[in-house]
Amino acid sequence: MLFQIKSYLQFLWNSKNQHGVHSPFVYSLVTKCFYDTKSKPDYSTLKNYRKSLLENKSYIQVTDFGAGSKVFTSNKRQIAKIAKTAGISSKRAKLLYRITNYFQPETILEIGTSLGLATSALALGNPKAKIITLEGCPNTAKTAQNQLRRFGLTNVKSVVTEFKSYFDNYQLSIINYQLIYFDGNHSKAATLDYFDLLLPTITNDTVWIFDDIHWSAEMEDAWEIIKAHPKVTVTIDTFQWGLVFFRREQPKEHFVIRA
Ligand SMILES: C[S@@+](CC[C@H](N)C(=O)[O-])C[C@H]1O[C@@H](n2cnc3c(N)ncnc32)[C@H](O)[C@@H]1O
Repeated sequence: MLFQIKSYLQFLWNSKNQHGVHSPFVYSLVTKCFYDTKSKPDYSTLKNYRKSLLENKSYIQVTDFGAGSKVFTSNKRQIAKIAKTAGISSKRAKLLYRITNYFQPETILEIGTSLGLATSALALGNPKAKIITLEGCPNTAKTAQNQLRRFGLTNVKSVVTEFKSYFDNYQLSIINYQLIYFDGNHSKAATLDYFDLLLPTITNDTVWIFDDIHWSAEMEDAWEIIKAHPKVTVTIDTFQWGLVFFRREQPKEHFVIRA
């Protein structure tokens, strides 16, 4: 906790808004997407999706994944409680919706579905996108699948799998995910492992979003290694997220932006 407070104070010190951003690509993203404060009709769907989970008092048997992606524990948890603690915040869901809407990616991968709170933002952000979302806990995934169906979000394919085994079993070099939301295993080793495994899928327009880059010293290390990777050109640190771009025409530059 102390680590995160220190890290946040440092972020506030280093961060800026659109002023002083000279890259037209980043300036446009920040002003037209990050700082778009207009209300959207889809926000009410996001709100209702969350509300119905928060009102769901039933329990499911949850399979937890610990370090090294080994099954950690299995226990009963209330759906409302999972929705409250494990998912994306309402503010971030709206931002994820706007980012998806802004870039209009045709193919999206989400690593870590939980109850689909972020999935619903991705699905509404571009209803034409084909979305694959990965979740290792069968009962959590089933709850998300039912919820997505209930809200008519039919552009999502939910896959129940351990992440690494999914990546190992697919020829990733033939798939181009235009947007990937990394929100599964917040450890340095796993983050860098997934980064390397998914690199063959990038194109010039790929957008990657890493959640919780300042969660721990380890995650901050992982973020620095990602920033330094030769294929990475632009990055944006919004404290909660690290956005990564591979645009070859763009000089390497790292932004720290309040979003
Ligand atoms: C932080 S939650 C995802 C939250 C979700 N993206 C949202 O914003 O609502 C991470 C999820 O990843 C799953 N998970 C963690 N490690 C995993 C692994 N190695 N393989 C498969 N699933 C895993 C957990 O079961 C959990 O539901």
